[in-house]
Amino acid sequence: MDFPFSDALKRLPEQFFAGLVHKVGLLEKEGHDIIKLGQGNPDLPTPQHIVEKLKEASDNPAYHKYSPFRGFDFLKQAVCDFYDREYGVKLDPATEVAIMFGSKTGLVEISQCLLNPGDLALLPDPGYPDYMSGIELAQARTSFMPLTAENEFLPDYDAIPARDLEEAKLMFLNYPNNPTAATADQKFFDKTVELAKKHKICVLHDFAYGALGFDGEKPQSFLQSEGSKEVGIEMYTLSKTYNMAGWRIAFAVGNASVIESINLIQDHIYVSLFGGMQEAAAYALTTDQKCVEELVRTYESRRDAFIGHLRAIGWDVPEPKGTFFVWLPVPHGFTSEEFADLLLEKAHVAVAPGNGFGEYGEGYVRAGLLDTEERLLEAAKRIEKLGIFSKA
Ligand SMILES: Cc1ncc(COP(=O)(O)O)c(C=O)c1O
Repeated sequence: MDFPFSDALKRLPEQFFAGLVHKVGLLEKEGHDIIKLGQGNPDLPTPQHIVEKLKEASDNPAYHKYSPFRGFDFLKQAVCDFYDREYGVKLDPATEVAIMFGSKTGLVEISQCLLNPGDLALLPDPGYPDYMSGIELAQARTSFMPLTAENEFLPDYDAIPARDLEEAKLMFLNYPNNPTAATADQKFFDKTVELAKKHKICVLHDFAYGALGFDGEKPQSFLQSEGSKEVGIEMYTLSKTYNMAGWRIAFAVGNASVIESINLIQDHIYVSLFGGMQEAAAYALTTDQKCVEELVRTYESRRDAFIGHLRAIGWDVPEPKGTFFVWLPVPHGFTSEEFADLLLEKAHVAVAPGNGFGEYGEGYVRAGLLDTEERLLEAAKRIEKLGIFSKA
């Protein structure tokens, strides 16, 4: 018997990138060697000292029981120590930190926490698709903020219709940005706080790529802006900073009422994460951060190699300032999807078509720096053979 899905599930947007994964799978089955730069899955392993901590902690019988519903105090304290050390931001572990099962979970939950049916949320376009999933489940509405090259992929707050600013209850932001690889400075976040205060909008800053800034530029935390805690929260995942995407651990920090709303919904849906994981995560955040410095150097070196190769074959591409993505303008005469299909079918290089991230992603493809420099060079060589670009 097939049971009908609820209306809420039926509202969920189509997983745009499932189609890409399927196409890559088919080509691989045919025996082709595909260079997969389409997804955002870190390719390097979790640093060994963190893995060892989990192994050791898993022997502790205290962790074999249910964990405290809202997470262990030692992890919340580690989060506060991390924010103080990295950003000079002081947080109260009891009221300003929520532990989450990866930030994807939190990004979907937040709409259930704050939005009623018909409420309005401001969303970046292009943007990370899961923001939409939560909004649809909550039966809320969206107003998109275009991110364009002319405005350095930051939303132009002056261009938001006055009515939307009045109605909006929640705004999603994400810097360093997926998919455009843009970064934001303190001035931008200060302006965001001012806007949010004026219009009583809760800001959700998704800081998934918080550790990944290049050329010596440390990405700015939203919470470094004065007054930010009054108007919003930041979500931080261990997935990218410590290559722990499979572990599913993240946290939210900031405004106490929003943190309480996340804790409240989680009281009903989950018991907190395995205690051994929490101990390993606390260790990752508070111990030597050389592994993070090394990771940034690796991505930076891959970026330089890949961008260098693409420019050498005649593709004029901008240099990303953060994340592990490059946001590549497609050559004249192609849509994002046509060009991504061409790269996949003829060069066996998988990239994500920009329109999958929103209307303003049209005209771009996103590539992840998630393979070795040799493979990135090979990708550039395969693209060169298509004969689309001509060297200057
Ligand atoms: C912008 C952004 N936010 C959130 C996430 C989700 O991270 P996780 O659920 O692994 O914490 C990702 C993952 O790709 C991302 O790119």
